[in-house]
Amino acid sequence: MGTTKPLFVSFEGVEGVGKTTALSLFADLLDEQNIAYVRNREPGGTPVAEALREIVLGEHDEPLTDTTELLLMFAARAQSVAEVIRPALAQGSWVLCDRFTDATLAYQGVARGMPRERIDTLADWVHSDLWPDATIWLHAPPAVTEQRMSGRGRDKDRIEQQPADFFAAAADGYARLAQANPERYFQVETSAGIDVVKARLADVLDALLARSVARQ
Ligand code: TMP
Repeated sequence: MGTTKPLFVSFEGVEGVGKTTALSLFADLLDEQNIAYVRNREPGGTPVAEALREIVLGEHDEPLTDTTELLLMFAARAQSVAEVIRPALAQGSWVLCDRFTDATLAYQGVARGMPRERIDTLADWVHSDLWPDATIWLHAPPAVTEQRMSGRGRDKDRIEQQPADFFAAAADGYARLAQANPERYFQVETSAGIDVVKARLADVLDALLARSVARQ
C-alpha cells in the first residue's frame, strides 16, 4: 500500500457511542493493510491543545461562557491542524481524528445554539479547505449511550454533566450533518456489538480505498 492519497478520517458521535473503540478497530484495519496513520483527538493532540482541553472540559469556579467554549475548541484545533494533521498528511500518513469541526457544529452549534455563521467563519479561519475526507459517524439509541456514559467509572467532565436533552440536540446535529454530507458521512451503528462494528468498518475502509484509487 502507500500509493493512494493519505486520507483524513474523523470519528464523530455523542458520548458513550463507542467512538474511541471504533477508532482503535479502524486503526487495526489500517495496520493489517500496512497503511501508515497518525491518531489524534480534539480538543487535544498536542501539549498546548491538551492544556486547552483541560480548561474547556474542566470545572471552574466561574461559569465558562458559550463564546469562550467555542473559541477554546477552535484554539485547540488551530494547534492540532498545524502541528499534527497537516504535517501527517504532508508526510503521507492517514489521520484518524477523534472528533473535528463537526463536533463543534453539533455541540456548540446545535446543542448550545451558537450561530452557524460564526462557526463557519472560525472554521474557515482555522482550517480553510481542510475537511475530513470521510467522517465515521457512530450511532446508537440514547438508552445505550446513556448507560455506557454512566458506567465509565470516572467523574463526568463539564460537558458530560449536561442534561440528556443536550446530547439529544447534539445527536440531532450529527443527523443533520450526515444528511447534508452524504458523500463524506458513513454511519456505523454500534449497539449490535463489536463484531458487527468491525465488519462495517472494514466495509467503510474498502469503500474509501476504492474511492481513492478511482480518483487517482
Ligand atoms: P471526548 O474526547 O470524550 O469525545 O470528549 C470531548 C468532549 O468535547 C465531548 O463532550 C464533546 C466536546 N467537544 C465539543 O463540544 N466541541 C468540539 O468541537 C469538540 C472537538 C469536542
